[in-house]
Amino acid sequence: MDRKKNISMAVIKRLPKYHRYLMELLKNDVDRISSKELSEKIGFTASQIRQDLNCFGDFGQQGYGYNVKELYNQISAILGLQKDYNYVIIGAGNLGQALANYTRFDKLGFNLKGIFDANPKLVGIRIRDIEIADIDEMENFLKSNPVDIGMLCVPQTSAQKVCDILVNGGVKGIWNFAPIDLTAPEDVIIENVHLSESLLTLVYLLNEGK
Ligand code: NAI
Repeated sequence: MDRKKNISMAVIKRLPKYHRYLMELLKNDVDRISSKELSEKIGFTASQIRQDLNCFGDFGQQGYGYNVKELYNQISAILGLQKDYNYVIIGAGNLGQALANYTRFDKLGFNLKGIFDANPKLVGIRIRDIEIADIDEMENFLKSNPVDIGMLCVPQTSAQKVCDILVNGGVKGIWNFAPIDLTAPEDVIIENVHLSESLLTLVYLLNEGK
C-alpha cells in the first residue's frame, strides 16, 4: 500500500470508523456493499466516503460497490494493522487495570507485554498472566523488550517523568490519559485521550437549543 503523505487529520480520524463498520460487515458475512448502503450504515455521505478512500488509491467499482473483505484489508493496511504492536501500561490504578483487562486490543493485534506501577502494594499482583512490576524496572525492561506503545495511566504529576523513561527506552507511541500536554521528541507520537471532552460535548448537545 502506497501511503500518501499530507492526508488530513479529519480523514485519518475517520479511518477507524470505516475499519469498525467493515469488520462488522465481515462478521455478518456481507461480501459486497454499495457506496450508498455503506454511507447509510456509517453515517458519512457516499461522496465523502469516495473522497476519503481516493486519498489512498482506487477503491470500489462503478455499479459493483465495494468488496468488503478487500476494503477491510486495505483500510487495515492503511492504518498499519498488517503487523502486531507491543504495548505496556504504566499506572495500574482504576484506568490502567480496566485497560489491562480489555481483551479486544489483542484481537486487533496489540500485545500487552508489561504493566508497571510505583505502588508496592500493587507490584506482584497478576492481571491476565502479567505481574505488575515496579516502575523502577521499566528502564531495564525496555532495553530487552521491544515496545511500540506506552499507555500512560498515572497521575498528572508523574506523567512527564514516565513519558521520559518511555522515550529513552525507544517507545515511539504514547497513548496519554493523564490530563497534561507531554513534551517529547518529534519522532514520538502522542495521542491524548480525554473522556471528559466527550462528556462535555454530550452535555452541550443535551442543552443545545434550550
Ligand atoms: P488511580 O489513582 O486509580 O491510578 C493511578 C496509578 O498510577 C496508581 O496505581 C499509582 O500508584 C500509579 N502511579 C503513580 N505514580 C506513578 C509513577 N511515577 N510510575 C508508575 N505508576 C505510578 O488513577 P486513575 O483513575 O486510574 O487515573 C489515572 C490517570 O488517568 C490520571 O491521570 C487521571 O486523571 C487520568 N484519567 C483520564 C481519563 C481520560 O479520559 N483521559 C479518565 C480517567 C482517568
